Amino acid sequence: MGRLLNRLRPSGLHWRLAGWFTLVAVACTAIVFVTVYRGTGTQLRHQIDGETTGEARELAHNLVLARARTPRRLAAAASRYINARPFSASSTLLFAVVPGVATSTNRPELFAPLSPDNGESPSEQRHEDRLSARLLGAPDGYSTVALPDVGDLRLLKRVVHVPGNMTVTIGVGEPLAAVTHAQDGVARAFILAALLALAGALCASYLLGTRLSRPLRRMAAVAARVDAGDLHPRIHHSSGEGAEVAVLADAFNHMLDRLTDAFAGQRAFVADASHELRTPLTVIRGQLEVLAAQSAPSAEEVRRVERLVQAEIARISRLVDDLLLLAKTEQTEFLRIEPIDLLPFVGELWDGVSLIASRRFELSALPAGTLRADPDRLAQALRNLIGNAIEHTAAERGLVRMRVQALAGRRVRFLVEDDGPGIPLDQRERIFHRFHRTDAARDRASGGTGLGLAIVRAIADAHGGSVAASAAPEGGARIELELPGFVASAASPPT
Ligand SMILES: Nc1ncnc2c1ncn2[C@@H]1O[C@H](COP(=O)(O)OP(=O)(O)OP(=O)(O)O)[C@@H](O)[C@H]1O
Ligand SMILES: [Mg+2]
Repeated sequence: MGRLLNRLRPSGLHWRLAGWFTLVAVACTAIVFVTVYRGTGTQLRHQIDGETTGEARELAHNLVLARARTPRRLAAAASRYINARPFSASSTLLFAVVPGVATSTNRPELFAPLSPDNGESPSEQRHEDRLSARLLGAPDGYSTVALPDVGDLRLLKRVVHVPGNMTVTIGVGEPLAAVTHAQDGVARAFILAALLALAGALCASYLLGTRLSRPLRRMAAVAARVDAGDLHPRIHHSSGEGAEVAVLADAFNHMLDRLTDAFAGQRAFVADASHELRTPLTVIRGQLEVLAAQSAPSAEEVRRVERLVQAEIARISRLVDDLLLLAKTEQTEFLRIEPIDLLPFVGELWDGVSLIASRRFELSALPAGTLRADPDRLAQALRNLIGNAIEHTAAERGLVRMRVQALAGRRVRFLVEDDGPGIPLDQRERIFHRFHRTDAARDRASGGTGLGLAIVRAIADAHGGSVAASAAPEGGARIELELPGFVASAASPPT
């Protein structure tokens, strides 16, 4: 039992369920996270692109409307527009480059002035040169430029043609910090939600797994006890455990019931067989001891003992043969089925049995036809039935009758009847059990072992037929053996 339960532990259902649940929860959270994270970024970038486009359009429109006649005036108009929108207020970088004149911008520290500032060191100057080169050298259209302090900047650069055959390059940049910020927020929220979901999934799946595996553990415990030889425990289940568990538990309990019956039957069979074998052996030993006790037994005494011993040995042989036959009936290749012509078959059998005893033997008219059966086994079954009828009827005047009827559905019924004491109502099923004899038969010294009808039933079952006991019209016993596989000749319709 301990071994079985231990096997459940390391890879227990609840742990495996918890593992799978967690894995699925992680995978689902990861998919949703990637989708939301990227979606947030894309949406914000679109929004920023829309804003920069609007800003650039407005600047360009303004420069066109300024109607500047010289580049210098154009640069002044650009400066006016740009200076009205300081970077610190809108966080939108604006610049306009009128070739050969000036660069107007609301973030002057990013652009190197045409003439160096007096206060700047050469390295600061070089740094500004690099930044302005990065911004001014960006391709036309949208691009992303990384700037110190500002971070990534979404930049839209356009060349605007203004009246007077002049051109001006304008640039509008929006920092992408908002996007990163929003995405960081999404990531943080997701990590928190994922951790909570994981903890929930882990607990729920562990509890669910424990609940689901509980009946299995109980079954394992019961199986372990059965394995140890105790067939009594049964699995109890409650309605809350689901229909599947109930079906499994019922099937398991049913199997245990059958096993219990089979073991009990087996034990009784072995006990009965031993008992039946011991009786003749005791008789033989007793007779031999009687003989041995005599110093000079007479020839007649020796012959008497010899006759008795021979009879007991015959009884043992018959018993062993019957036991072997019963054991064989459980094998699939027990029968050798062939077509049997019913008229000659029953006729010959009847002639044979009516020779062994003197009774009033009656055989009614037989239906002509062919029966698919094992002739040896069928003859044996009928001989057992007729033998019983002979056994239970009075010599000479006792009636032993056999009738054969063709039935609908290709079946045939053999009825063996007698006018003996009959079989009590409560014994009519039990007489087919192995070693069962009615009390009246037990008292008689007839020598029957109680296997004859068990063999008849085994033969009937093997053929797919049936056998049952009832009462004959004369008050004696009637045994009906019904078999399938009968094809009547055209002349004899079914009764
Ligand atoms: N025709 C019958 N009339 C009355 N009782 C019968 C008849 N046939 C069977 N029985 C009862 O059924 C019991 C079982 O019969 P069965 O043929 O199995 O065993 P048996 O005749 O006692 O022994 P065996 O046939 O093994 O030599 C008999 O002991 C008897 O009590
Ligand atoms: Mg018998």
